Amino acid sequence: RPPIVLDSDPGIDDALALQYLLGTGLWDLKAYTSVGGNLPAEQTYLNARALTRALRVDADVPVHRGAGRPLTRLPYTSASAFHGRAGLGNETLPDSTAAHLPESSARVLLRLSREYEGELTVCATGPLTNVAIALLEDPGFARRVRKFVFMGGAAQVPGNITPVAEFNIWADPDAAEVVLSSGIPFTMVDLDASHHFLLGPADLAVLEAAGTGTALAARLLRVYMDAYRRHGGGDACPLHDPLAVGVCADESFITAAEGAVVVEGASELTRGKTVFVPSGAHRVYYADSPTLSARLAVTGRVALGPGTRDFTR
Ligand code: BDR
Ligand code: CA
Repeated sequence: RPPIVLDSDPGIDDALALQYLLGTGLWDLKAYTSVGGNLPAEQTYLNARALTRALRVDADVPVHRGAGRPLTRLPYTSASAFHGRAGLGNETLPDSTAAHLPESSARVLLRLSREYEGELTVCATGPLTNVAIALLEDPGFARRVRKFVFMGGAAQVPGNITPVAEFNIWADPDAAEVVLSSGIPFTMVDLDASHHFLLGPADLAVLEAAGTGTALAARLLRVYMDAYRRHGGGDACPLHDPLAVGVCADESFITAAEGAVVVEGASELTRGKTVFVPSGAHRVYYADSPTLSARLAVTGRVALGPGTRDFTR
């Protein structure tokens, strides 16, 4: 199975992304690297540890602590309104019994890119701070990684943290700029794509009925869905981060256009806005395509399929 690192700020949909990644059985998850984002870095680290225990992989998947603040800006505002007070809905999950590891998330990304040069997939579902630190320390990271898929950006639709910006990019626009201009072969899965990848009450009912293995996911999703409802998102919630994991394995989950992405960082008003420039060789989402909607309507079920089966282990 190909090596992968999941770099995350759990967060409910990050937790689902981890469960989905493990559930597909497609990957050899070499590390789960945390980063500050939805919650401060110390909390996302603890959440990451607790999740590996809840999903019974704490003996196999090392968890690392990530960047505590953005490259140059003030630390994030917490996204507790969506993810719950400590980031995992109403859960208080026990900590993993694994030893705390001294290596930082950025260092682990660098080490694994050397150990698995040309093979490693990196999937990022939080702010891009760790990845940027790795690149600033060693720009060669960009060419050693086989594929980099991240959830972030909003080039054509309103943002979700400001009218023009998506949360992950807004949280650390300078890191995003470092990453997107580094030459790393990236696929951007932005809000245009994830807002087509919806989980509705009927899907939740399936998960709730499916047994103990899906119980955690179902409880998390109920909190997430309620939050989207409260924030005017209607009855369904987008599965931003699981979609990025899906795209790591199967690019046909989205219709992609090739181009470059520029991040706006100068003014606070437009902070973190992503602008798609149709040139360059990167795979980016393609918005509002009927193909996209149709594919994702289907993959919404497919994505939960393998997960549902494996959630029961
Ligand atoms: C992204 O922001 C976070 O709150 C979610 O976990 C996801 O990664 C969506 O904009
Ligand atoms: Ca996230």
